[in-house]
Amino acid sequence: MNEQANNWGTERMDGPSYRPRRLRSNAIWRDALADVTLKPAQLIYPMFVRLGKDLRRPVASMPEVDQWSPDRLVERVTELMGQGLQQIMLFGVVDQDEKDAVGSVAWDAERSPVIAAMQAIRQSGIGPDQLVIHADLCFCEYTDHGHCGALTNEGSWGGSCGGGCGEGVKSEKLKVKSGGSAKPQAAGTRAGQSRGGNMWGGVDNDVTLGMLAKQAVALVRGGADVVAPSGMMDGMVGAIREALDSAPDGNGNGFSQVPIMSYAIKYASSMYGPFRDAGEGAPGHGDRKGYQMDYRRSDEWAIELALDESEGADIVMVKPAGTYLDVISQVRQATALPLAAYHVSGEYSMIHAAAERGWLDLQASAIETTLAIRRAGADLVLTYFAPRLLGWMKEGAL
Ligand code: PBG
Ligand code: ZN
Repeated sequence: MNEQANNWGTERMDGPSYRPRRLRSNAIWRDALADVTLKPAQLIYPMFVRLGKDLRRPVASMPEVDQWSPDRLVERVTELMGQGLQQIMLFGVVDQDEKDAVGSVAWDAERSPVIAAMQAIRQSGIGPDQLVIHADLCFCEYTDHGHCGALTNEGSWGGSCGGGCGEGVKSEKLKVKSGGSAKPQAAGTRAGQSRGGNMWGGVDNDVTLGMLAKQAVALVRGGADVVAPSGMMDGMVGAIREALDSAPDGNGNGFSQVPIMSYAIKYASSMYGPFRDAGEGAPGHGDRKGYQMDYRRSDEWAIELALDESEGADIVMVKPAGTYLDVISQVRQATALPLAAYHVSGEYSMIHAAAERGWLDLQASAIETTLAIRRAGADLVLTYFAPRLLGWMKEGAL
């Protein structure tokens, strides 16, 4: 035995007494000892909706991801529910001429694609006990400048401008389309606020809080089961909680039963590139570094977590997920709140791109990546792979 090896001049040695390989020796052992699992209820599938009929528009930079009109979205969701899908996250996409300085389309039930989609889902008879609808709560997809709130008039731009961004910040015309009744003119012009501490990053934090409150109530009235603020404004969870609790719901209770899933720990990341294609909400100038977190700072997550906990977040999210597994793991240790992680567009498209070239196996790498996010400590995973994962679960591959 092993003469071949010995012919190379090597010798069999005395092995160790403890051998981890004993319990890897067959599939029964491997399965029995695998504690990291994934079930359909833990997946949240992000979807893009735009107004129209019979519309399915592929997103160039995201294979197998489309923008749907409400009618087609209902069909797609129904199909995926047959595969086990239980939760979706909705993002709205609107034409450029629907956008304005504050993104007023976001709270306008007549014009919001997200509200139209939620109404279509509910009208089709799908109830909240069958499908949980998370509504993304932000403004970048709806503002004409592409930022996550109203701009300040100060020009105190905190992010970096990759050129061509001087115009726009200072001279932003805060025009609002009909139906919007926020008072964006207050941005930076209110007495005593013009040099206030809430202007950094070009987005006026506290004016945006009022806008978020308004959008939150509109989304919940429109049928959202969960609101998910993603704009990284300071105090956003508290402002939204207060607005929901005090909004009249018909029997005077307010929407105190509606959970908030906060994008609590969200880094300014290059990994959102393809999403900005899908949501058509790239910033027209500058970047989001004045409000999203700096990934070079290791401990800031603890501050964001503590704030969102104290403001009443029901679920906290870390985003991106795959490149921030260390953060997920630390947050898991630090909180008892349910934890979500968002495997974002760039992380998704990278795997697809490599698989298209035959460099990676799509199924194996998608499953491994998703389970790594679970192993790090996420209860819920937002992923564009959800339809694929559900299919693989059905096949018993996961
Ligand atoms: C917008 C928003 C973004 C994502 C979710 N909500 C983009 C951004 O912050 O620029 C990214 C999702 C993804 O990349 O899949 N507030
Ligand atoms: Zn945004």
